[in-house]
Amino acid sequence: MRVDIITIFPEVFKPYFEESIIRIAQKKGKLKIGLHNLRDYTLDKHRKVDDRPFGGGQGMLMMLEPISRAVEDIVRRASKRRKTQDARRKTKIILLSPQGKTLNQRLVEKLAKYKHLILLCGRYEGVDERVADELVDEEISIGDYVLSGGELAAMVLVDAVNRLIPGVLGHKDSSRFESFSDNLLEYPQYTRPADFRGMRIPQVLLSGNHKKIKEWRRKESLRITEKKRPDLLNEARTYGTK
Ligand SMILES: C[S@@+](CC[C@H](N)C(=O)[O-])C[C@H]1O[C@@H](n2cnc3c(N)ncnc32)[C@H](O)[C@@H]1O
Repeated sequence: MRVDIITIFPEVFKPYFEESIIRIAQKKGKLKIGLHNLRDYTLDKHRKVDDRPFGGGQGMLMMLEPISRAVEDIVRRASKRRKTQDARRKTKIILLSPQGKTLNQRLVEKLAKYKHLILLCGRYEGVDERVADELVDEEISIGDYVLSGGELAAMVLVDAVNRLIPGVLGHKDSSRFESFSDNLLEYPQYTRPADFRGMRIPQVLLSGNHKKIKEWRRKESLRITEKKRPDLLNEARTYGTK
């Protein structure tokens, strides 16, 4: 998968993307990340990307023009790379926005199927509305709170999607149960020591009986979901998957 990120702060991504699983994914060639400074798509000598809102009001808005130029350039380069005209079809253009659809594992799974994501990070008071209306395919939020910019949201999205790219975690890991697979939370996990100051781990995990452990994990997964996130079970019932 290729991910292109349009931002006025490309540098903030580097430390995170150069570590751990995202670094490994890039090294394996499973993930390619392009960081694009929006100011490189301006035409004036001040490299201006924001302006005052029509009708008055506080703060500045990101302008449509440089964003449009950046997206067009990235899509054009993607078509050249693939030597086909269908680059746009396989590309999803996303505006990170508190007004967007809330990111959850189901949406992450859908995004992981694309070959190419273009992520647009807003700043200031937000982005000219024509970007959401005309330029992007989807607005995505990482939760009901307001961040100062879309950069952290883009990092969250890339991190979650990257885990689902085939070959990134390896066969064994990618098929394992994690929270939200099946709309359930993960069962409790423990590591050494088995007894710390009288805090003991469940006996069944020391039994060596894999069938029993599997049954226990499934039961615990249901119990914990019921206790911590009953809304997930209700959602699963609504979708008819349980
Ligand atoms: C200060 S916010 C603008 C908020 C806007 N004035 C509003 O009330 O909807 C600046 C930028 O941060 C990003 N952002 C803020 N909160 C976000 C969230 N919960 N999820 C994704 N992106 C967010 C968006 O890119 C947004 O354009």
